[in-house]
Amino acid sequence: MNQQKLKVLVGRAALEQVVEGSVVGVGTGSTVDCFIDALAGMKERIAGAVSSSMRSSERLRAHGIRVFEAEAVESLPVYIDGADEIDRRGFMIKGGGAALTREKIVADLAERFVCIADASKLVDVLGRFPLPVEVLPMAAAQVARRFVRLGGQARLREGVVTDNGQCILDVHGLQITDPLGFETEVNQWPGVLTVGVFARHKAALCLLGTDEGVQTLRF
Ligand code: A5P
Repeated sequence: MNQQKLKVLVGRAALEQVVEGSVVGVGTGSTVDCFIDALAGMKERIAGAVSSSMRSSERLRAHGIRVFEAEAVESLPVYIDGADEIDRRGFMIKGGGAALTREKIVADLAERFVCIADASKLVDVLGRFPLPVEVLPMAAAQVARRFVRLGGQARLREGVVTDNGQCILDVHGLQITDPLGFETEVNQWPGVLTVGVFARHKAALCLLGTDEGVQTLRF
């Protein structure tokens, strides 16, 4: 099955995770686009959505789904989002679409993170996908030097300004064997807004699209 078909498959499978009558946390990316399209089929049975990007909000509204600001809700039963990589413990790299800060904020509102991904995203060790880090422009070079000391090479994502007006470093060459420790360390660096390791906000469940169908991984 091609990748697009797998994305459609897991996007539809994620509907079972939606709590009827609730506000749904909705992430960002091409897999989530498939979920949003599927969610439109049950829009009368949800109160609306909180989304992690302007892109997803626009798509939700285009389907007639009400979009709430994150400030307007206290908690969400579930947040459904994709990942750039996920390991067998539910730790993830996210931010390929530059929406990582808002993704972490909305994930933090949710009781459960449900990851939807095609099988190519499952890895043993995080780091093959260049790690996105949202930084204040003033600190970009300084933060990049710190990654060199950890064995990585950080490259500025050219021409990208995030929804928060900041820039993205993509860090190549890392092997993140201790995602929790790594996230805690990088979070301390001045100028880092968000590191794209989701360890404190890891997935509770992953719906993985494979040639054999949707595989459910529980963590
Ligand atoms: C967006 O910033 C990312 O965290 C996405 O969740 C991630 O890039 C997955 O996107 P795709 O579903 O397009 O692969």
